[in-house]
Amino acid sequence: MAAQPWGGDCRGFVLLSILLGTLWEAWAGRILYSVSEETDKGSFVGDIAKDLGLEPRELAERGVRIVSKGKTQLFALNPRSGSLVTAGRIDREELCAQSPRCLVNFNILMEDKMNLYPIDVEIIDINDNVPRFLTEEINVKIMETAAPGVRFPLSEAGDPDVGTNSLQSYQLSPNRHFSLAVQSGDDGTKYPELVLEQLLDREEERVHHLVLTASDGGDPPLSSTARIQVTVVDVNDHAPVFSLPQYQVTVPENVPVGTRLLTIHAIDLDEGVNGEVTYSFRKITPKLLQMFHLNSLTGELSTLEGLDYEETAFYEMEVQAQDGPGSLTKAKVLITVLDMNDNAPEVTVMSLSSSVPEDTPLGTVIALFYLQDRDSGKNGEVTCTIPENLPFKLENSIDNYYRLVTTKNLDRETLSMYNVTLKATDGGTPPLSRETHISVQVADTNDNPPTFPHSSYSVYIPENNPRGASIFLVTAQDHDSEENAQVTYSLAEDTIQGAPVSSYVSINSDTGVLYALQSFDYEQLRELQLRVTARDSGNPPLCSNTSLNLFVLDQNDNAPEILY
Ligand SMILES: *[C@@H]1O[C@H](CO)[C@@H](O)[C@H](O)[C@H]1NC(C)=O
Ligand SMILES: *[C@@H]1O[C@H](CO)[C@@H](O)[C@H](O)[C@H]1NC(C)=O
Repeated sequence: MAAQPWGGDCRGFVLLSILLGTLWEAWAGRILYSVSEETDKGSFVGDIAKDLGLEPRELAERGVRIVSKGKTQLFALNPRSGSLVTAGRIDREELCAQSPRCLVNFNILMEDKMNLYPIDVEIIDINDNVPRFLTEEINVKIMETAAPGVRFPLSEAGDPDVGTNSLQSYQLSPNRHFSLAVQSGDDGTKYPELVLEQLLDREEERVHHLVLTASDGGDPPLSSTARIQVTVVDVNDHAPVFSLPQYQVTVPENVPVGTRLLTIHAIDLDEGVNGEVTYSFRKITPKLLQMFHLNSLTGELSTLEGLDYEETAFYEMEVQAQDGPGSLTKAKVLITVLDMNDNAPEVTVMSLSSSVPEDTPLGTVIALFYLQDRDSGKNGEVTCTIPENLPFKLENSIDNYYRLVTTKNLDRETLSMYNVTLKATDGGTPPLSRETHISVQVADTNDNPPTFPHSSYSVYIPENNPRGASIFLVTAQDHDSEENAQVTYSLAEDTIQGAPVSSYVSINSDTGVLYALQSFDYEQLRELQLRVTARDSGNPPLCSNTSLNLFVLDQNDNAPEILY
């Protein structure tokens, strides 16, 4: 039976274990001592004098000494107390490594009798080593799609102590996602493993920081820690998400080509190519494709052509955002084009009298036209004016139809043609206007009689004029035109000294030239009174008269005559 009188405190205590019974029995076997490692030099190991049945002083007298096979002496004899003591610090781990039992054996030689006594000293392990991880930083990469239950080996810790002083357990810092499993190898080595308990989400938490603690079973236990960094590897589990379900913009139609209308934006929570978003049109007509450009990287939507409210006032298109592997999301883009005052009003003449008689009654309609402006709202509201000093005014008919009517009597002889400027102006800011010219010809009516410059003329003709000689010319003016101004001349029927006027004088009806039909004789006829009528060819004709006094002048055509 072996007694194990362990001290309550292993440190510094020298423990002795001997076979009970007689010394003989002790000598017959081996003397076994035990001492804790790492005790101070000179620490008590065993009462060798007593165990050999000697008084302490006899050790020296009898030449007792330690013999061992060339090893560094770990022990020495204390001749004064007769005990075996340590010769220096003993490190069990250096001596025996991981062997569960560490025995040092040597012999005691008693020189006088040449007796050898085998001694065994067991070096008792103390917990002088902390379990250590090879690296204090453990990196683990796990796909975010990894299923719960998957295990990831962690690097283990080592503790050179033995028995309960060696590594006993691992603990993982508390967390939601992971637990710890420990596998035991054949040699008793414990392999810690990280077990995924709950699904990971990289977008929620990119990295998980855990602490792994390795503890031994010493008293008190020693432990050390390693930091575990679990990096969650991205999987394309998110599609891009637009910042808005639909994008709207209102733009004036006159924005320059290339103007950025709006920017669409989508976010993809994944990382790397999984999160790289590009933009494109989704449903778009070839026509719109020519009009708009979408920057695939920035999401900027701009114009490639000018917008025209009058052509299209509203555009709707679908766009999409796509990540690297191809997950996509769509959104709508609505573009409202605002009318700008970019169209001038137009005047369309529907009907126009090419000429208007000058005696036309007041209020006669000369032209009918309508106003139009392609713009809308105020930009399309058109008003029309004409200069104020004209004998015309504008009358609104229905809607945008207008009439040009006369407000004063026209007189061709004063003004035969009016160039009426219609100015149509819209209500835009600034307003646009357009001028249209309507030319109104005033047609002649026979409202002017031919007129002679004088109401009477005196004509002097020397007597003895040749017959048929032209004696005078009358000319009447008629301000009318054409036949209304075509004047014919005639002599009023009358008699002179019993003979008709036409036997004395004739008139060329076209030219107004008067001819003498006789050679006048002053001594017979001294004066003729004529009336010339000028008549135009109007219908009815108008005429006027002038009077002509013809005086025959005396010539010396008679020789004196002696009456008696
Ligand atoms: C009318 O007047 C405008 C400008 O004053 C001119 O351009 C146009 O030729 C004129 N029209 C006629 C028929 O005389
Ligand atoms: C012109 O004279 C004719 C005849 O002499 C007469 O009938 C007519 O009324 C006169 N016309 C005018 C305008 O005096």
